[in-house]
Amino acid sequence: MFVSEVPALQEFWYPVARSDAVGDAPRHFRLFGDDYVVWRPGPDADVHAAVDECPHRAGRLSQGWIEDGALVCPYHGWRFDGTGRCVEIPQKEPDLPVPPRARVKSVLAEERYGLVWACVGMPRAHVPDLPEAEAPGWTLIHEIFDVWSASATRLIDNALDVSHLSFVHKGTIGDPKHPKLSDFRVERDGYRLRFTVSYTSRVPEIQRRNVGITTEHTTRTTHAELVQPFVFRGLLEYENGIKHVLYRTATPVDDRTSIVCQFVARNDDPDPDRQVSIAELDRMVQNEDRQILERIDPDFPIDLNAEFHTRADRMTVEYRRVLADLAQETSLLRREDRRWSMTREEAARGPIGDAGAGLARPEAGAEARGD
Ligand code: FES
Ligand SMILES: [Fe+2]
Repeated sequence: MFVSEVPALQEFWYPVARSDAVGDAPRHFRLFGDDYVVWRPGPDADVHAAVDECPHRAGRLSQGWIEDGALVCPYHGWRFDGTGRCVEIPQKEPDLPVPPRARVKSVLAEERYGLVWACVGMPRAHVPDLPEAEAPGWTLIHEIFDVWSASATRLIDNALDVSHLSFVHKGTIGDPKHPKLSDFRVERDGYRLRFTVSYTSRVPEIQRRNVGITTEHTTRTTHAELVQPFVFRGLLEYENGIKHVLYRTATPVDDRTSIVCQFVARNDDPDPDRQVSIAELDRMVQNEDRQILERIDPDFPIDLNAEFHTRADRMTVEYRRVLADLAQETSLLRREDRRWSMTREEAARGPIGDAGAGLARPEAGAEARGD
């Protein structure tokens, strides 16, 4: 399954830029393979986003500039306000009106947690509520906002997949001699998943400074949550009471590329030096994931018969069910699906069949089977 084959995924919000990166010039971003522009009409103004194409002659608005609160197209100088309406056409007679159809195609944009989020469809939910990221007593640290050559599905699957830690992260927090997870149950509520699991984590030198644990190994508990299909929250609890809430989002730039955004909230009031050190370790850990994920096929199997599963994979099995349910809603997939591998371009060429028929659909709210 490619992300473009499941239009329901366009009904969620995704981080497309850091707030502080949207300053006095418009910025380009891509979502689901399409080009958009985001801009801020003034220093304290709300952000706006639209399809990156001028309604006049398709000039790239992201190559334009901001002047007197208007977004100016670089091609013939048409000006647009924050709602996308054209407010000035320099070539027309001044006393003639601007036609109302002269407007850019706006999309939804909002700022939260120091990030600009966009939704290009009809949103089925709000920008996700991530309580610790803005609650008093917690310190928010931005760690990663990078483009990776990996699909959003693979990225979030990896975030849910605790059993890879001891191997992929053997250079940092993992130890292949301790691969076992505690028993756990995956709870499902609509498209949300939750589970709690404990495991042995290695404590490298940098982590000793970060969490104040001096033993070689520690038992770490992760309270994991799939908040939205491409938004993961993991509350990591250490034996000494420190809580490290890790948020990882994957923005589907296209079928094979994603923005990886990661930020954390800490309950131990880390000073600026320790914040740098916390971000440094998490970036080392994410680089280990990146080495693996950028080499994996971005086509994500949601057919449960396509892969081999173990008891330790219950959360990622359930993730496949969540995506299969979303695919069933409005999918471009076809029954004779060539192993779910049709790209959007191919879908546009072919008929839309009985989308996703034959997939098992678990009841919403049901708990994943523990077997
Ligand atoms: S293409 Fe934008 S003003 Fe002409
Ligand atoms: Fe990892």
